Amino acid sequence: MPSRRRSKKARILDHLGTRSIVLVGMMGCGKSAIGKMLARKLELEYRDADEEIELAAGRSVADIFKEYGEPEFRRLEERVISRLITEGPMVLALGGGAFLNDDTRKTILDNGLSVWLNVDFETLYERVMRKPGKRPLLTKGNPREILTDLMKKREPIYALSNLHVQSVSGPKSEMRNHLVNRLDEHLAIESRETAQ
Ligand code: S3P
Repeated sequence: MPSRRRSKKARILDHLGTRSIVLVGMMGCGKSAIGKMLARKLELEYRDADEEIELAAGRSVADIFKEYGEPEFRRLEERVISRLITEGPMVLALGGGAFLNDDTRKTILDNGLSVWLNVDFETLYERVMRKPGKRPLLTKGNPREILTDLMKKREPIYALSNLHVQSVSGPKSEMRNHLVNRLDEHLAIESRETAQ
């Protein structure tokens, strides 16, 4: 069947192959919420790196930070993601700091399709403040200053992802549809380029 007559879903899955769609970006950017909706739409498995870390450690992310500290959390995070990336295709939501790790980022760039969900500061801030205890990094001082600082340092690294998607206003389904369209577009270009 000619490619233009297939559904977006079929085209995306075909071009994706065994790669996973890996969602990166700041805490509160919607990696989990939008990731679940995207997975449902594409009928792909959804996995959340933080949840997998919690399963492996038998405690919450907040407790891992409290009991073992951030370096141990980052070691666990690297190990869990290097396993998950071999189990695709899936939609994989990363924690906000995971893509900063050079080895993790290389594994993802080599084996997955990374998508940066880029959301403006005020939206992020408003969302993360709804669950104040959930993000241990924000409990160490003024959350607005910490988030500003993290965002400034991290954006150039998030920008190394394969695809950048700016958030759109309105219901989450709008963002999910926008993401599906951007994925379809990106993968079609990628497949034309590799065919040449
Ligand atoms: C972190 C973000 C969190 C979680 C941990 C560290 C970060 O995940 O992995 O608290 O460094 O930005 P979310 O991005 O899902 O909140």
